[in-house]
Amino acid sequence: MEKKVKRIGVLTSGGDAPGMNAAVRAVVRASIARGIGCIGIRRGWNGLITSDFVPLTSSSVSHIINKGGTMLYTARSLEFMEEAGRAKALATCRLLGLDGIVAIGGDGTFRGALAISRQAAKDGMDLRVVGIPATIDNDIGCSHYTIGFDSACNTAIECIDKLRDTMQSHERCSVVEVMGRHAGYLALYVGISVGATAVLIPEREPDFEKDIVEKIRRARLAGTTHYMVVVAEGAGSAIEISQRIHDELGIDPRVTVLGHIQRGGSPTARDRETASRMGYEAVKVLAEGTGNQIIGIQNGLLTDIEMEEALAMTKPFQMDRYQILEALTNSCGPDF
Ligand code: F6P
Repeated sequence: MEKKVKRIGVLTSGGDAPGMNAAVRAVVRASIARGIGCIGIRRGWNGLITSDFVPLTSSSVSHIINKGGTMLYTARSLEFMEEAGRAKALATCRLLGLDGIVAIGGDGTFRGALAISRQAAKDGMDLRVVGIPATIDNDIGCSHYTIGFDSACNTAIECIDKLRDTMQSHERCSVVEVMGRHAGYLALYVGISVGATAVLIPEREPDFEKDIVEKIRRARLAGTTHYMVVVAEGAGSAIEISQRIHDELGIDPRVTVLGHIQRGGSPTARDRETASRMGYEAVKVLAEGTGNQIIGIQNGLLTDIEMEEALAMTKPFQMDRYQILEALTNSCGPDF
């Protein structure tokens, strides 16, 4: 039987991603459209522990769809990983009369969501939790796409295009480190999109000779006088890679670590639209659904997958894209 949800809490947690604000806005507006109240929990799961919240109305989320960052702030909470921390969080939920939570973030956020939903069930509380995937790493198993990825790719591409100008003038090699501690999606997409000479990702054990040296040599033979090496942070340090290139090839690369700049900026159309759809869906699932779910996108369509099942899913590495990258970088040799 459908349960009447009266009040939803919404939070953003973990590393921020462009489009989080658009998702918060969608959750608030979709709740209001269904006659459900909405409360913003600030600073991630910490906000539930410390009772750090703000009531949200339609106008409180005006003019944020285009803004990077998150109006609710974000944090990673160690205390929430402990049962005692979650007990405090559940006490806040009771106090606020929350019967649903929408948690916007990545893997760590969803593990927190699963833990609190289990603890609530153990305590006999009817509290449902729905997750919305938002991380520039695009590394959530149950969704082909995570909010923020497209914006981060575009930010990195814009920076690398600028670097290419000066690398071309000075006939230099650039080693650019992009984010992705455990996942190479950003490096892969960016590498393809900037026409990189070589790309290193954490999913593949790097073979320095084959993956970098050989590629630069081929490009050099083809007459190229500047080279762009893109490294995911989880695949190695750009500084060390640059030193090795210097030692092996006798060239003097310049290193750029793009860092947190990739997490900021106005979200792209794809991220605003995806965030709006996912936010709407999360409220729909809370209002009509029966359990704890994670929203996802599979082949362009929205999915709601039961949380435990969703968290057990792994994202296969995109070998097809890697092969494209390999083909396009390896053919950088003499024409025949
Ligand atoms: O947002 C994901 C991510 O960007 C990772 O790629 C990166 O390793 C990590 O966050 C760094 O986040 P922070 O500096 O906030 O710990």
